[in-house]
Amino acid sequence: MPQGVFSARAPSNIALIKYMGKKDGVMNLPENGSISMTLNSLCSVAEISLSGPANSIAFSDRVRWVSTRPQGFQELPLEVPVLDDRGVFKLVRHAEKVVKAAREIFPRFGLQCAEITSPDSREMLVFRTANTFPQASGIASSASSFAAITLATALSCARDQSLFERIWSQDSVFREQWARISRQGSGSSCRSLNGPWVMWEDERVQVLPSQMPPMAHFVLLVSDQQKKVSSSEAHARVKTSPLWENRPERVAQRLIQMKQALSEGDVRTVARIAWEESWEMHSLFHTCSEPFSYWEPGSMKVLQALDPWVNGTHRETPIVTPIVTMDAGPNVHVIVDATQRELWFDRLSPLGFKILSDRQGTGAIV
Ligand code: PMV
Repeated sequence: MPQGVFSARAPSNIALIKYMGKKDGVMNLPENGSISMTLNSLCSVAEISLSGPANSIAFSDRVRWVSTRPQGFQELPLEVPVLDDRGVFKLVRHAEKVVKAAREIFPRFGLQCAEITSPDSREMLVFRTANTFPQASGIASSASSFAAITLATALSCARDQSLFERIWSQDSVFREQWARISRQGSGSSCRSLNGPWVMWEDERVQVLPSQMPPMAHFVLLVSDQQKKVSSSEAHARVKTSPLWENRPERVAQRLIQMKQALSEGDVRTVARIAWEESWEMHSLFHTCSEPFSYWEPGSMKVLQALDPWVNGTHRETPIVTPIVTMDAGPNVHVIVDATQRELWFDRLSPLGFKILSDRQGTGAIV
C-alpha cells in the first residue's frame, strides 16, 4: 500500500436474533440484544488517501468521497456503489465522529494520533469504498460499509500504523471501543468488526464462545430490488404493532437459549430460534400501523421448501438442520455445516434462484 493510503475490509453479518427497534435513535441503542454470524467474502472495503491541503479546517471541507475503485484489493471482485448526497453526508459525519473518538481512545491504548486528527489540520481525506456484492443484489451494505469506514478512518488517525494493526488484532477491548463508534453510523455494523458469533446488547459487543462447526452461508437472491422501506423506517414502525408488546422480554429469553446452544454446538436449537425470530420480525412489519412487507412470492417459495428441514419433519432429518433467516429484504439466508456445503447447494439450486455463497468469518481487518 502506498504511503498515505489507509484501507480496511469488513464483512457483512447476518442476524439470527434481530436488532429491530431503537431505544435511542441518535446513538443507535437497541431495544433488545441481538446475535449474528459474521460473514467472510460478502464484504465492503474502504480506502482513504491523504491529499494536499483543503480550503478550510472545517471537517466537511476536508473529506471527499470519489466514485472510483479503491487502488488496493486487486484480488476482490469489487463494485463501487452509487452514493447520493445523503449517503456522502452520512459518510462524512461518521468519519468526523471516528476522528474525534481516536483522540479519546488512542491514548488509553498507548497510541499517538496523527496530524490529521488535529482540529486545525487542513489535510484532505479522500475516501473510496466498494463492495464485493453488487448494489443490485438486494444485500444490505450498511453494516459492512460502516464497519470498513470506521476501521480505515481509525487507522488513518494513528501515527504508527503497525502498532494500530497489532493492537487491533490482539486486543478485544480496543475492537469493542470501535464497535461502539461504528454502531453510531449503522447499528448492525458493530457486529461486523468481530466474528464469527457476535452478541450486541446496549453498548456491549462481544464474541460468543461456541462449539458450533464451521458454517457455510448461502443467500438465495429472490429479488434485486432496492428496499422500499428503509431499515431506519422499519425500526420506528415496528413499535406500533400489537405484537411489539413484550418483545424485549421474549428476546431476552431467546438470547439466553441461543448463547447456550452456541456454546454447546447445538445447531438444531440455534436454527429453531433463528426461524422464530425471522418470522417474528417480519410479522412485526406485517402488523404495524402502516403495514409493509419485504416478502416476494419467491421468498415464500423458499421458506416453504425449507420448513420441513428446519422443523424436523423432512424424511431425511435429523441428518442436518439448516439455519434459515431473512433480513429486512426478500432474500433468504441459509447457514449450514460447512462439511455439507455441496449437498445443500445442490438442494437449494432447483428452487431456481441465483445463490451467493459465503462462509463464517472473523471480522474486519486492516
Ligand atoms: O443496522 P440497521 O439500522 O440497518 O438495522 C439492521 C436491522 C436488521 O438487519 C433487519 C436486523 C439485524 O439485526 O441486523
